[in-house]
Amino acid sequence: MNITKEELVQRAREAKERTYSPYSSFGVGAALLCKEGTVYLGTNVENVSFGATCCAERVALFSAIANGDRDFEAIAISATNIPCYPCGICRQVMSELCDGDFKIFIDNGTDVIEKSLEELLPCSFDF
Ligand code: THU
Repeated sequence: MNITKEELVQRAREAKERTYSPYSSFGVGAALLCKEGTVYLGTNVENVSFGATCCAERVALFSAIANGDRDFEAIAISATNIPCYPCGICRQVMSELCDGDFKIFIDNGTDVIEKSLEELLPCSFDF
C-alpha cells in the first residue's frame, strides 16, 4: 500500500462530510484504494423513495469502475456511529469486484478494525 490504513481512514472521514443523508442523518464515507494507488471517495446518497439510496461503499466502487479502474486493494469506511460495517448488498458488490484478500478498514475512532472480504462474506454466492 502506498498510503497507511490510518491515512485511508482519514480520506473516508473527509468523504463522510459530503454525505447526502437528510432522511437518516447517518453519514458514511468510504475511501477505495486501487492497486496502482488511486483513491476513490464515496459517500451515501439518500432518496425520498428510500430504495434508491446508495451506500458510500458502492458509490466509491462504481466511481472507480466508471473511471476505468478495476483492481482494488482496500476500502476504508467511516460513519456517524462507529464502528460501521458494510451492509450485505455492499459485501455482495465487493464480492463481485474484489478478491477475497481485499481489505476492509473500519474507523473505530482511536484505532482501525481490519477485516478481509473473505471474513465478512464467507461462502459467497457465485455461479
Ligand atoms: N449506509 C452506507 O452508506 N453504508 C453502509 O455500509 C451502511 C449504510 C448508509 C445508507 C443510508 O444512507 C444510511 O447509511 C442509513 O442506513
